[in-house]
Amino acid sequence: MAVLRFRALVLTVCLVCFYAPTPSSSASSGDFLHCLSASIPSKLIFTQSSPSITSVLAAYIRNPRFSTPGTVRPLCIVRPTNASHAQATVLCGRRHGVRVRVRSGGHDYEGLSYRSVQPETFALVDLANLRSVRVDRARATAWVDSGATVGELYYAVTKASGDQLAFLAGLCPTIGVGGHFCGGGFGLLLRKYGIAVDHIIDAVLVDAQGWLLDKKAMGRELFWAIRGSGGESFGIVLSWRVRLVPVPPKVASFIVPVSVNDGAVDVLTKWQEVGAALPDDLFIRVIVTNGWASFQSLYLGTCDALLPVMRGRFPELGMNRSHCREMSWAESVLYVYVGSGQPIPVTDLLNRTTSMDTSYKVASDYVRRAIPRDVWAEIFGWLAKLDPGIMIVDPYGGAISAVPEAATPFPHRGGVLYNIYYQNSWAAGNDGEPNVRWIRDLYAFMAPYVSKNPREAYFNYRDLDLGRNVVVGNVSSYNPDDYFRNEQSIPPLVPVSFISNRVPASVVGHKVYGVKEKI
Ligand code: FDA
Repeated sequence: MAVLRFRALVLTVCLVCFYAPTPSSSASSGDFLHCLSASIPSKLIFTQSSPSITSVLAAYIRNPRFSTPGTVRPLCIVRPTNASHAQATVLCGRRHGVRVRVRSGGHDYEGLSYRSVQPETFALVDLANLRSVRVDRARATAWVDSGATVGELYYAVTKASGDQLAFLAGLCPTIGVGGHFCGGGFGLLLRKYGIAVDHIIDAVLVDAQGWLLDKKAMGRELFWAIRGSGGESFGIVLSWRVRLVPVPPKVASFIVPVSVNDGAVDVLTKWQEVGAALPDDLFIRVIVTNGWASFQSLYLGTCDALLPVMRGRFPELGMNRSHCREMSWAESVLYVYVGSGQPIPVTDLLNRTTSMDTSYKVASDYVRRAIPRDVWAEIFGWLAKLDPGIMIVDPYGGAISAVPEAATPFPHRGGVLYNIYYQNSWAAGNDGEPNVRWIRDLYAFMAPYVSKNPREAYFNYRDLDLGRNVVVGNVSSYNPDDYFRNEQSIPPLVPVSFISNRVPASVVGHKVYGVKEKI
């Protein structure tokens, strides 16, 4: 695997240079743009001549590693305000040979929602304008648009329900609902209720033919596929209907840091036995850094109820009353995510601002047999080698593990003790070569101690080191009709042209401004 290299530039220079022309513009680009402008209001289309295209593109880039002058960027950006704009973009793209990539929150670790690794002409459908959340408290359900963040979803749910309902997705409030749900989505409630895709009951998608389909229209297979194997292979998911879950108005949370000098290796070794076997109401994850293991918890009950559980099941941690705080579930998301030990106002869930100071590379593993104590001691040696490397270990068991492996494309269920997330980061503008090498070396070191045949990885912790589609002469690995594609998408088994005359049994709507013919 070739090591990616990026030129060292300070952020300001990157932003000035941000919108370099697309390397492989084809003759059909002009026709495509013409088709778009006949179909979609011009204020929603950002072309290379639009003054704001640089800021629109940068607005939802989370990893500045992919905002260098060498990054392959979109021909144009479309920001739909309704479904027909997304449909029109797909139809114009199919007609004129321009592919589409979709961005919801822009948190893809390899930047695949807004850049291509190879030179390629593509349009970006950025869902930032489609972000409403409609909560039905009586039914304990919500419709959420893909362009919303999980923080916006959590905020709407907690406000509409008086802190009594929740949704079970990731911890970072700025993650986009679209990409996150398409890849699985887990957070602090995974042991009690499972993951986001276990609670999706409907979705609305624009497929490669430009059809707008709901669950009934898309059929069982497609509805199954978009819940964990990545939406980018199948279309543009515009919105999701989710089932909400009950939580007590007050939950308990603790953060207990343990240094290596105070026995972190032993406590972590013991945690492997208890983490996935605790009562489902209790979730304890560990942030492992140079010299420290920080144990962070959510308990769906009071501190008084939690203390005897901790004393009985995990006394080695030494957790006591002074570590424990009670707060609403929504507050606990921010409390654990920020990890400062201080309460954070729940309105911070709505903050979409992310830092562009740090670039990073991640990888992931699943552990099915506890890692021996001496190996954990060695792992702390790795973490001491190159600050700020971190590992986050999330316990499984409980509801996440009770779902059958084939129920969704997220297969990491029964028998998983925990997930490992590896990250190293560096100042934006540096090439990060030592940090990327550190991740790769640690990943190689971990091979004997993690799942095998296959070695599992979490789809949402995107890692191009695991492999890429081969594209030769604009034909991807297996299928020339693979319209929605990226470096790790799943090519269709049946050529799209073969199914192009299919008329769905139930179509939500197919009104497309200005696009008269179907492909
Ligand atoms: P983004 O918009 O970049 O899209 C990711 C991928 O999905 C791309 O391939 C894109 O084309 C595709 N896509 C996006 N929207 C789509 C749509 N509407 N229809 C079809 N395809 C679409 N995960 C987790 O489970 N738990 C966690 O706690 C965290 N925490 C976390 C923190 C931080 C800081 C980051 C950067 C990431 C995480 N993640 C995570 C991983 C996160 O779940 C993953 O990066 C998601 O893909 C992010 O979704 P976005 O919509 O933000 O990504």
